[in-house]
Amino acid sequence: MQSFVIQGAGGGRPLKGSVRVGGMKNAVLPIMAAATVVDEVTELSNVPSISDVGALASMIELLGGVTDRRGDRLTIDARTILKTELDDTLAKKMRASVLLTGPLLARLGSVTFPHPGGCVLGSRPIDVFVNGFKKLGAEYAETEESYTLTAPNGLRGGSIFFRLPSVTATETFMTAATLARGTVTLYNAAMEPEVVAVADFLRAAGADIEGAGSPTITIRPSPLRAPSSPVPIIPDRIEAGSFMILGALAGDGVTVFNIDPSHLSAVIDALESMNVPLDVGDTSITVHAPAHLRPYELKTHEHPGYPTDLQAPMGVLMTQAEGESAIIETIFDGRLNYTSDLVRMGADIQLWHPHKATVRGRTMLKGREIDGPDIRAGLAFILAGIAAEGETKVGNAHLVDRGYEHIEERLQSLGASIVRIS
Ligand code: EPU
Repeated sequence: MQSFVIQGAGGGRPLKGSVRVGGMKNAVLPIMAAATVVDEVTELSNVPSISDVGALASMIELLGGVTDRRGDRLTIDARTILKTELDDTLAKKMRASVLLTGPLLARLGSVTFPHPGGCVLGSRPIDVFVNGFKKLGAEYAETEESYTLTAPNGLRGGSIFFRLPSVTATETFMTAATLARGTVTLYNAAMEPEVVAVADFLRAAGADIEGAGSPTITIRPSPLRAPSSPVPIIPDRIEAGSFMILGALAGDGVTVFNIDPSHLSAVIDALESMNVPLDVGDTSITVHAPAHLRPYELKTHEHPGYPTDLQAPMGVLMTQAEGESAIIETIFDGRLNYTSDLVRMGADIQLWHPHKATVRGRTMLKGREIDGPDIRAGLAFILAGIAAEGETKVGNAHLVDRGYEHIEERLQSLGASIVRIS
């Protein structure tokens, strides 16, 4: 088990310099899954070096596919995929494994998988997936260990209304629908930039998709082929937002580059409301920590609202604001659990119920030993450690590695005192 050890800046603003944002985790994973509906070799570029990419590539290989990673390039050859059962161990570790269900069902007429695991963010059911597949003609059966969906003649066309706009369900159905026998329309679809990125990849492969980025998406049958050139993965807006919040916390001019600011409107608005000076360019944003941070009422929301994946880092920033801030988490019921560890670090946070907390500041955080419970809270604890006085040890480094490439090296380059230990 590895941990990060951080010597805190004690409320100072020592961080300065530029940090490059990599390809987006939550875009590359659904695009890798989407590549498995293409019966040719597809190539992706700007692929981040994060462990979730390796885990999904292993899952594709265990199904019989071939993947090859060179630098930031990744090729996927799905022609040899013949297995329809997802690897149990890997699927139980990663929620994104569910992205492979649609391609397997659509291509091979069957898929068996355990309840997908991953970050502990509260209950994470799969009813939206099961109901959607049923609408496209699949039969569903479950045992204590696994779910099985079958559609021996492939999926048919149809309309699916999502009871909530699930990101991975939208990506899964858009992908599977490219192989359906008729037109598929998705209503109440997720509108995240990563959904648009998956549609762009599929369109580059010849798919006929209209409406991605809006609540209604229509997919008409069309032959698929490999895109003619490597498809670049969009910049990671969550990583970008994490570095921006770090700049607001302890930065004396932190430039976050290789980003698309249009994906970050909610974060920009939140930081500006908190009195954080931002210099927004075409592909970069420079952030300074202000002398006085204003409190803020944050409500997470599906895109284009404030992303739940940036809620925990913002919770850390709120401990440094002067006055009472509030967090209303609307997406996941376990995503405020990290606040109890911030309280152990000296934060003044009241958790009213699983979806609401208030944060009173400004408080000086004190270094502690804490374990990150998931990717984003793990990163938030690193930010807390940088702001705190004294030494903080953040365990479960492997969880942070799932979503952030070489995080300690990039933070060191900004002047943070952080090392990785075994
Ligand atoms: N939900 C259901 N039933 C379903 C599917 C979802 O009730 O069948 C619920 C979830 O429990 C949750 C809400 O719907 O309360 C939204 O979940 P969604 O399905 O949109 O989340 P996801 O697709 O599993 C993706 C990201 C998450 C991110 C969420 C929300 C990937 C691989 N994961 O998850 O990212 O938090 O969308 O934006 O794209 C992360 O990167 O750390 C992460 C957790």
